[in-house]
Amino acid sequence: MAIKEHVQQAINDQIQAEFESAYLYLAMAAQFDQKGLKGFAGWLRIQWQEETVHAMKFYDFLLSRDGTVELQTLKQPEVSFDTPLEAFQEVLAHEQYITGRINDLYDLAVAERDYPLQTLLHWFIDEQLEEEETARQIIDDLRLAGDANLFVLDRELSNRQPEPEA
Ligand SMILES: [Fe+2]
Ligand SMILES: [Fe+2]
Repeated sequence: MAIKEHVQQAINDQIQAEFESAYLYLAMAAQFDQKGLKGFAGWLRIQWQEETVHAMKFYDFLLSRDGTVELQTLKQPEVSFDTPLEAFQEVLAHEQYITGRINDLYDLAVAERDYPLQTLLHWFIDEQLEEEETARQIIDDLRLAGDANLFVLDRELSNRQPEPEA
């Protein structure tokens, strides 16, 4: 079944949103690196990679439907945090925003009876649940650790490994 024009547009918009997520996390990674928190920086670099993988899932999906990929302008990330806690509150808020977008896309896929898109989005719905949970966990850890133990958490986050690509 050929993909409908406005469904294609919505997917292209989501490709942009995923690349903008990647861009945001990369900007945050640089700031952490500057502050000497290499573990947080490394964690966010992996997050940057993951977001590009998300973008490419939609990209490949469009191509597999004989659709047209139209890459759009990425806005400059606005990163303004003073503490790691503030940074991860931003991460959580951003992931909640993305979850809202994925839900809207799912509503569209249901309304348009686009079953392949629904199947793809099941993966993203699970992924968003995980992303929000992880951000919330780090926020909790930051609150418990306090400033004195920040370096312990930084070390712990440096253990994150990139996920093998699905
Ligand atoms: Fe994503
Ligand atoms: Fe994400």
